[in-house]
Amino acid sequence: MDKNGKRIASIMKRDREVFLTTTRVPYEFVVDHGDGDFAYDINGRKLIDFSSFISVYNLGVNGNSEIRQAIKKQSDKLSHSAFTDYYSELPVSFAESLLGMFPKGFGKMFLSNSGTEANEAAMKFARIFTKRQYIISFYNSFHGRTMGSLGLTASRSVHRAHFGPFNSIIHAPYPYPYRCLFNRGEHDCGEDYLGFIEDYILKKEVDPQEVAAIFFEPIQGEGGYIVPTKSFMKGLRKLADEHGILLVTDEIQAGYMRTGKFLALENFGIEADIYTMAKALGGGLPIGATIARKSLGDLPSGAHANTFGGNHIAVAAASASLNYVKAHKRELEIGVKRKSEMIFKRLREMQDDHEIIGDVRGIGLMIGVELVKSRKTKEHAIKEREEIVKKAFKNGLVLLTCGESTIRIIPPLTMSESSIEKGMCILEDSLKAARQ
Ligand SMILES: Cc1ncc(COP(=O)(O)O)c(C=O)c1O
Repeated sequence: MDKNGKRIASIMKRDREVFLTTTRVPYEFVVDHGDGDFAYDINGRKLIDFSSFISVYNLGVNGNSEIRQAIKKQSDKLSHSAFTDYYSELPVSFAESLLGMFPKGFGKMFLSNSGTEANEAAMKFARIFTKRQYIISFYNSFHGRTMGSLGLTASRSVHRAHFGPFNSIIHAPYPYPYRCLFNRGEHDCGEDYLGFIEDYILKKEVDPQEVAAIFFEPIQGEGGYIVPTKSFMKGLRKLADEHGILLVTDEIQAGYMRTGKFLALENFGIEADIYTMAKALGGGLPIGATIARKSLGDLPSGAHANTFGGNHIAVAAASASLNYVKAHKRELEIGVKRKSEMIFKRLREMQDDHEIIGDVRGIGLMIGVELVKSRKTKEHAIKEREEIVKKAFKNGLVLLTCGESTIRIIPPLTMSESSIEKGMCILEDSLKAARQ
């Protein structure tokens, strides 16, 4: 092993000795810095980033210069303001600005530090607003790993093993058009999935009058970049209205312009009652938000709070990021659409040549490529996927996986078309190499 390889191996070894973290990519990526379209490892190797560092850097790796400036400026002034106890204008202005991106009637929000915390708050709010106990969420969903949101999460049993039991949460199947559970081909199977909730869950397991909320991702992320059908989403809204159940959309991965719209749910023509956001919201700093319809009411004094929600450096970064999004919204929308079309075109061409590509799906720059051993049996190509992402990394492209055998393509929304093209060429070369 050369000197550079030794340094990477030594950091990885030290890491394993001190951390309990269990999720790691299958390649040896020791990060050093990032800039725009690129990430650099500690040996100065330049990599095209198709991961946005797990869907965080929507405006470029390490944010843009406005975000970095805002962080520097705020750090000289005040970092922590004990905002849930004292008043402060910065988070108020941020919340007002963020609400401007929401449909009429929204609302009020709670600021936290992560996606899981935003969902924990949403669970509590749904229960206190409705005075009901049960929550429905979906198989293949990922809503976080703390005890409440972990109860919602059901994408891999290893996430849940030995941590339960989880209270009053019922899981329903989520429309997966490529692998429709109801086995009726690739037709719009939304009706079948709705029927399951109506005929089984709400008739045989829980009285709808006891259900506080239905939590869902508008596009499932960790579970496999699964896009539900529009009919399912519309039906879900109708079902919730019939029974006074709240709809909670987890926009933590799919939101913040990722699909070309600020809120991913906009793609389905419905509104939810509570929205949760995190990841890209902070432009690289930790922040979560739980945004509720105003008509749901207020919380009793002392019902919910935290220490760091509204942290001033995080809010300064989030505000700078949001200002950029607002000022460049049209440009981002057009850019996401154009780049998305470009990627889909390339992937469809690759699909013609590579049997291993079973399905290509997504909206905007949230794109999943599901790999199968055979298109007929749809057996997951798990080992092959690992080979492909390893090979891609070796050739200068950072890729993440999701689901059983899917690769995510989630570049920063601001990535140049030439970097995207180079990334797609690396992906194709890696597919070829994995086949040999
Ligand atoms: C859709 C979704 N919800 C919630 C979370 C949890 O967010 P965090 O890791 O910030 O707690 C994630 C993280 O991947 C996510 O993708």
